[in-house]
Amino acid sequence: MENVLILKGNILYSENKDTIVCKANSYLVSKDGVVAGVFEKLPAEYAACPVTDYGDKLILPGMVDMHIHAPQFSFRGNGMDLELLPWLNTYTFPEEAKFENLDYAKKAYGYFADRMKKSATTRAVIFATRHREATLLLMDLMEQTGLDTFIGKINMDRESIPELMDKGPLDSAYSTFGWINEAMKRFKLSKPILTPRFIPSCSDALMNELNEIQRTYHIPVQSHLSENPGEVAWVSELCPWSKFYGDAYDHFGLFGSEGKTVMAHCIFSGEDEIALMKKNGVFVAHCPASNMNLSSGIAPIRRYLDENMNVGIGSDVAGGESESMFRAIVQTIQVSKMYWRYIDETKKPLTFDEAFYLATLGGGQFFGKVGSFKEGYAMDAVVIDDSIYPSPIDMTIKQRIERAVYLSTDINGIVGKFVNGSKVL
Ligand code: GUN
Ligand code: FE
Repeated sequence: MENVLILKGNILYSENKDTIVCKANSYLVSKDGVVAGVFEKLPAEYAACPVTDYGDKLILPGMVDMHIHAPQFSFRGNGMDLELLPWLNTYTFPEEAKFENLDYAKKAYGYFADRMKKSATTRAVIFATRHREATLLLMDLMEQTGLDTFIGKINMDRESIPELMDKGPLDSAYSTFGWINEAMKRFKLSKPILTPRFIPSCSDALMNELNEIQRTYHIPVQSHLSENPGEVAWVSELCPWSKFYGDAYDHFGLFGSEGKTVMAHCIFSGEDEIALMKKNGVFVAHCPASNMNLSSGIAPIRRYLDENMNVGIGSDVAGGESESMFRAIVQTIQVSKMYWRYIDETKKPLTFDEAFYLATLGGGQFFGKVGSFKEGYAMDAVVIDDSIYPSPIDMTIKQRIERAVYLSTDINGIVGKFVNGSKVL
């Protein structure tokens, strides 16, 4: 017998990048964790199945956070006074070095996992630290939340504080092999992803090793790209042979040519870099909060969207101050307006429907058929109670979701959450 799950309420989801579909008082039906359809009247074949009735609440696809640093969650909302490179040296590296200590890691990752479970995020692509045991601990804690995630043990063998560097490329690769083997044995929902921190952290010899690992395990890759002008200039000094930043990944097969790849930021990507990202289907993780906080800049997301590139949204905690993906949707729209006003008047601001798409279906494609309630998509859903903010106005469902997102109703308005058809909250 198939495992049928039926939710009733006001259902909405992205049909495509331009359009959110809203269906009042309808039934969201899934079988074995996969959406079978959204119906105004329940089809007769499901008449005997139990229905979870959420009344007047909003039911939407879970958010997909394409870029978040779990160990940085502890200092989110602090240290917003520096640009990327001094920010890493001053706040980030010293904090990440603490994850050598498993007691500290347990406490910090416990708070992170608890918050992620209660958030609107159902899928996330996560950076851990370079530490193998602490990363396995994070994967274990995330597995228990029921969220479906990629989690990466960072590789870094140069240009950091001594206690946060792997002891050379071979040590880094060896530890990564061991971690992947263990993670694949132990976890179903927490999946390993190769994570060279960024080019300045990884020697050419280490990048070669990571290419070998990718060819062995065929797991995806995450990293950072063209985030800050000083960083971009540094990459061309460290890799004088590279034609552009992305080429320094591509040279080692770590830029989408040999496996699914997501790059955070992509603010200062030039024409050649953009062309290669398109050719290789590299995903862009747009992180507007981080890009504001670290004075990095504004990524040309209107262009990426119009040119049909793979784009999603990342909270990038702790460059970004919050794990709230509703907040990240709003920031995506807001920075696109500043881009249009100050940088390029031909690049129209993003609409609400477009930014909602990026946070669900846009990033969801990194995971497969994820991020919508179209037939065949994973049954990842969150239920929002927006009556916590009462209003005398009789709003449409579309107005209600827009308001719920602008008011960060994901912080305390979530009353249900499902991942792959399993109830998480
Ligand atoms: N580049 C390399 N490491 C990091 C990081 O931790 N955060 C951000 N925003 N950019 C990075
Ligand atoms: Fe980041």
